[in-house]
Amino acid sequence: MKSCWRRAGLVPIAGLPNAERGCIDDGTDAPPTVTLCFPPGLGLCRCPSPILLRNSFLSLSLAVMTLSCPPSEGSSPLPTPLFSAPSTPETERDYDCFDLALAALPPVNAAAQYILVTGGLGYIGSHTALELLKTGYNVLLVDNLSNSYREVFERILQAAKQHYEREGGPCPQAELACMDYRDTPAMRALLAAHTTQDPDSTPRSNITGVIHFAAYKEVHDSLRNPLKYYQNNISGLVDFVALLDQHHIKTFIFSSSANVYGTQSATHPTLREEHCVHRPETYCAPDGQLMAVEQGCTGITNPYGRTKFFGEAILSDLAASDPSWTILGLRYFNPVGCDASGLLAEDPRGTPSNLVPVVVKVLTGELLELSIYGDDWTTPDGTAIRDFIHVSDVARGHIAALTAAQEGRVVESFRTFNLGTGCGHSVAEVVAAMETVSQRAIPRRTAGRRPGDVESCVAIADRAAVELGWKAERSLQDACHDLWRHLRDGKAGGL
Ligand SMILES: NC(=O)c1ccc[n+]([C@@H]2O[C@H](COP(=O)([O-])OP(=O)(O)OC[C@H]3O[C@@H](n4cnc5c(N)ncnc54)[C@H](O)[C@@H]3O)[C@@H](O)[C@H]2O)c1
Repeated sequence: MKSCWRRAGLVPIAGLPNAERGCIDDGTDAPPTVTLCFPPGLGLCRCPSPILLRNSFLSLSLAVMTLSCPPSEGSSPLPTPLFSAPSTPETERDYDCFDLALAALPPVNAAAQYILVTGGLGYIGSHTALELLKTGYNVLLVDNLSNSYREVFERILQAAKQHYEREGGPCPQAELACMDYRDTPAMRALLAAHTTQDPDSTPRSNITGVIHFAAYKEVHDSLRNPLKYYQNNISGLVDFVALLDQHHIKTFIFSSSANVYGTQSATHPTLREEHCVHRPETYCAPDGQLMAVEQGCTGITNPYGRTKFFGEAILSDLAASDPSWTILGLRYFNPVGCDASGLLAEDPRGTPSNLVPVVVKVLTGELLELSIYGDDWTTPDGTAIRDFIHVSDVARGHIAALTAAQEGRVVESFRTFNLGTGCGHSVAEVVAAMETVSQRAIPRRTAGRRPGDVESCVAIADRAAVELGWKAERSLQDACHDLWRHLRDGKAGGL
């Protein structure tokens, strides 16, 4: 196998020639393993031999890099930037990785425990990775960059570093594997690198939990391209959990969505988990009546929402067949805002369709105006109502879920939780809030309602409060302030 390597900075590594890049061919066809650990201050990237590289963007090369938080100012210098490529889709696609001579690398620290985060460079994934690091977890991020940029990894590390400079204490490890979570051979290799043998020869993974964000998420795109959604969000999920099962990794947090409630919001002003269940349940209604619900969800309006429902159903069946799994389906309402550091934000590839990313593009001058879809809903101002929740609260919800799972506090082997605030705000209110914090007018026009949209969608978040000890702490105004700080300090676009 031909293994090539490249180093950022000329820090000597035992066993490697003291040059910037090079290749070694050991004459074997051995598949790559992913064991990797970098000396502090050194940035390295590796991927499999060219034979395993495919041109398809979705089956990206296996590229893994590991870093802890950048060292503090005044101690040793920051690591040389790993990837200086500008964040454009074409450049990212063309980004070339280099294999690393494996023999020269120290192994993954078997004693350390990791949380595997798929889609870890995306909007919610990056914020959750940061909260995990701030809580003391080591993280292993998997992302194929289909809707994110590699530089997000450095921003996560930078934000974690700022946190530990403020609070003190050692920063945990972060590792990034740039690959498709559906690439089962590559994922197997990654998991193998995190597996050790107990003294009695039982294999043991140092991955103690998985948070699965990787998916496609655009409602309207899913109406045009349903199979793309079923392939990534469902077929991939089935193979992935089967692989985790083989590695005895059985704590799993699934990104679900309020989309599973579909049009039920028309009859229920607020939505509780029992409005969509996978086995018969009973609950006590506000009027004191005991209500019985049958399994299933009615009124899902689009393929994306169905992938979340099917995903939950598959995981529910798995947990019923093997209660040693602990699976939590977190149904997010409408995450908005960004981390208070201003270093992370929602930065999708392509044209966004969610409200707040579009507002951002109007503020930065990339779009001329905001389209408001429907001003004739039966709401006070005619625009649709959603439960907008600060993304850092959503991220913290994952820490609460993980903690509950690891402490054995989850009452069933599969359990769903709404992550929302319990308060609805209209689209017009969000636009007004952004205008207030930015002191800028946001040009807008009214367009017709879009297929697949619903009038109102607001959570009852009591279950998460009682069983996970979690509730949203930040307001819509907080989210707008954080977002505006990010835009202003980052001098985004035309600001
Ligand atoms: N943002 C929302 O409003 C919202 C609401 C409810 C649920 N969700 C769900 O939360 C999860 C995360 O959402 P987000 O807003 O962070 O989306 P995002 O697109 O910003 O993040 C998803 C990340 O997954 C990566 N990815 C996609 N397919 C992959 C694959 N096959 N292999 C590896 N990486 C892959 C993308 O590159 C991206 O970085 C998704 O499952 C989404 O359906 C999001």
